[in-house]
Amino acid sequence: MGVFAEQYCRRMIVAGIYVQSNVFLAPITGYTDIAFRLLAESYGAGVAFTEMVYVEDLLRGRRRAVESARFDAQEPVRALQLIGGDPSLFRLLCGSPLLSDVEWIDINMGCAIPEIVRSGRGYALVHDLQRASGIIEACKSSGKAVSVKCRPGMDVKERSIQAFARMCEDAGADLLTVHGRPGNQLHEGPVLYDSIADAKACISIPVIANGGIFSEEDAVAMMRQTGADGVMIGRRGLEDSRIFAALTGL
Ligand SMILES: Cc1cc2nc3c(=O)[nH]c(=O)nc-3n(C[C@H](O)[C@H](O)[C@H](O)COP(=O)(O)O)c2cc1C
Repeated sequence: MGVFAEQYCRRMIVAGIYVQSNVFLAPITGYTDIAFRLLAESYGAGVAFTEMVYVEDLLRGRRRAVESARFDAQEPVRALQLIGGDPSLFRLLCGSPLLSDVEWIDINMGCAIPEIVRSGRGYALVHDLQRASGIIEACKSSGKAVSVKCRPGMDVKERSIQAFARMCEDAGADLLTVHGRPGNQLHEGPVLYDSIADAKACISIPVIANGGIFSEEDAVAMMRQTGADGVMIGRRGLEDSRIFAALTGL
């Protein structure tokens, strides 16, 4: 068994939900469908999120959105990622039977694609604490587990993570995932370990660290340098899903 599995892998309880490990599969548009989530979970992934689904598309019953929000009975945790910018639409969706199968809502507040940010969704919410808080509260009103996925800032100089992390906790989020790359780097370049550590230091809900984990050594370094409660893996999981088994010892 490797260092991560021995020293850092643990089970979690999040909002009353049993989570088999603190190694999560990232939401990846076009890839994290039922088959891929089940594979990651069979290798020990604690939570495997759907791709991001637009709140408006689910409310309108658009086929792709409805399909992306489907789960298999074998999935240990049914975790849906939502993206949107209007708290009242989140409230409408969360109070409707459309989410009756969902146990865990993850809110995308990290997507930095320019059109999405311009539309007031994704990363734009890191700069609009009031609206972000309204969205978290709307999701919490469903009684489900609620997490937020964010980034430390738009560029390396921006350090807005602590105010944002505190807002998430105060609004009722059960967990925060930080993708440690600034928004202007999208999915490339160095990860700001210190920003993830800053988030971890100022809140008491679990913090999951994401970005650039391609090996067990990367996962161990992420835990050591951030003090995070767990890791989230994206692209390496697509290349070789056995990374989950290597980290969890399953
Ligand atoms: C093709 C692609 C699609 C993605 N789709 C989503 C998404 O739907 N929701 C989300 O929060 N992040 C999305 N991401 C970001 C990943 O969840 C993750 O934060 C990012 O890839 C960094 O993790 P990694 O270095 O382990 O891949 C996507 C990334 C890629 C490369």
